Amino acid sequence: MANPIKKVCCIGAGYVGGPSMTVMADRSPEIEFNVVDKNLKRIESWNSLDLNNLPIYEPGLMKLIKKCRNKNLYFSNEIEKNIALADMIFISVNTPTKTTGLGAGQAIDLKWIESCARQIAMHAKGHTIVVEKSTLPVKTAQTIKSILDSYIKKDFGDNNKNSKTFSILSNPEFLAEGTAIEDLLKPDRILIGGDDNNAIEVLKNIYLKWVNEQKILTTDIWSSELSKLIANAFLAQRISSINSISALCESTEANISDVAKAVGMDSRIGKYFLKSGPGFGGSCFKKDILNLVYICNYYGLFEVANYWEKVITINSWQQNRIVSIIVNKLYGTISGKKIAILGFAFKANTNDTRESPAINICRKLLEEGCILNIYDPKVSIEQIDNDLKNEDLSNLNELNNEKKWQVSSSIIDAVRKTDALIILTDWNEFYNLDLEEINNLMRPPGWIFDTRNIINIKQANKYGLNIWKIGNGNLM
Ligand code: NAD
Ligand code: UGA
Repeated sequence: MANPIKKVCCIGAGYVGGPSMTVMADRSPEIEFNVVDKNLKRIESWNSLDLNNLPIYEPGLMKLIKKCRNKNLYFSNEIEKNIALADMIFISVNTPTKTTGLGAGQAIDLKWIESCARQIAMHAKGHTIVVEKSTLPVKTAQTIKSILDSYIKKDFGDNNKNSKTFSILSNPEFLAEGTAIEDLLKPDRILIGGDDNNAIEVLKNIYLKWVNEQKILTTDIWSSELSKLIANAFLAQRISSINSISALCESTEANISDVAKAVGMDSRIGKYFLKSGPGFGGSCFKKDILNLVYICNYYGLFEVANYWEKVITINSWQQNRIVSIIVNKLYGTISGKKIAILGFAFKANTNDTRESPAINICRKLLEEGCILNIYDPKVSIEQIDNDLKNEDLSNLNELNNEKKWQVSSSIIDAVRKTDALIILTDWNEFYNLDLEEINNLMRPPGWIFDTRNIINIKQANKYGLNIWKIGNGNLM
């Protein structure tokens, strides 16, 4: 029987580190979980007395935080101290695409992983199990191991020589935002890769508190690292597949929901991840596929790289073609027109906007000279401003000093005096829009562009609204 662990440290208090440690803490009251981050503002938000101020919004998270925080779950920026005290350390830091240098635009920037490895190497004491929770390129464990080993060999002159040892495991996270707590509590599988059976058993024992043993899969470390990238690539591939067919439906008077249903009822294909929309967003799909493309090219597998790259090509194409459709339907120009945007988060039930299709679509619309009223139930004004602003896009129209976009506090506020309404996120509250009131508030002829396929066409027509729905070839 492997030694039970008493203290866990998780480096990175983000969308993965926060919720995953919260669920573990809830299921293992005898273990102390310390989630650390160098971002003090984020830590302060995790410790906020008002639970509405938590740094991330996830259904079910508040309740668990209330139960565990400051009992066996702590958030702090005392990174070194908590590394030293931990028997097990999860690395849950960001792994974005490199923006400069070798592999820029495709390879993963491992600088945060490397800095974690160095911090662990310097401050860990005794035997420490280091767990990769971040999504990493295959073979990253080798990099981490070489950094940890180099510090073990180094004599620090404090009689600490060789007193520390490490085991490295890969334990990728498969949660999706918006359903993170549910996904963590009822995972499809837990994947643990490694070659130290004792360490594997220790980690497995944590999960066994709430996950059935049959769902815990153990593999070698490289298969585990690679499986995570491939799972994301397959999910994104399904979305690009259905989005490519949404365009074909529009050209052939077919209906994408019916096609997806008919195709998905084949048990070999399955019904999930077949909803067409404005393209996938989120911090991971694009960067993980780009990384896969980079790895394939690195190993000389050019056809494989080209194959996966097309998943991203279709994703961008879907967003661009939606913008063209909107401009064309609004008589070929949207200059000076007001447009309401419903939904800015990359999917419902999250406040995350990373790689949200809304960013690209809104930017392109703004370039056409329109004015946007943006409403999202969870995304803050600051976040929207940050996402839309950059050197070439300031919020002020130089000619008349009028704001190019404003953030509305309700659907009704957003829609008033607009020419068009565009649904970009599938928030629950957009399913039952009061189309009569909306039509009364809009400047005729009012248009609805439904990129999430949630509006009833007959209802919209009944109140005199024009409607375009993704993947619907027959709108009459
Ligand atoms: P995030 O950006 O929300 O959080 C990462 C945190 O790590 C940040 O708060 C950052 O300040 C902190 N950090 C970075 N380097 C640090 C260091 N050296 N010391 C202390 N703190 C440090 O990222 P995320 O969305 O939680 O993703 C983390 C990893 O998990 C990524 O590899 C991602 O691909 C993967 N993943 C994400 C999701 C998701 O839904 N977001 C799901 C599964 C896997
Ligand atoms: C995704 C995966 O689902 C998780 O398993 C994985 O752990 C995570 O990435 C990660 O590694 O970061 P996430 O991006 O949070 O999770 O959310 P998804 O539900 O996968 O949605 C991603 C995007 O695809 C969203 O923009 C969503 O609107 C879109 N989508 C999803 C569709 O357009 N159609 C669908 O049928 C499903």
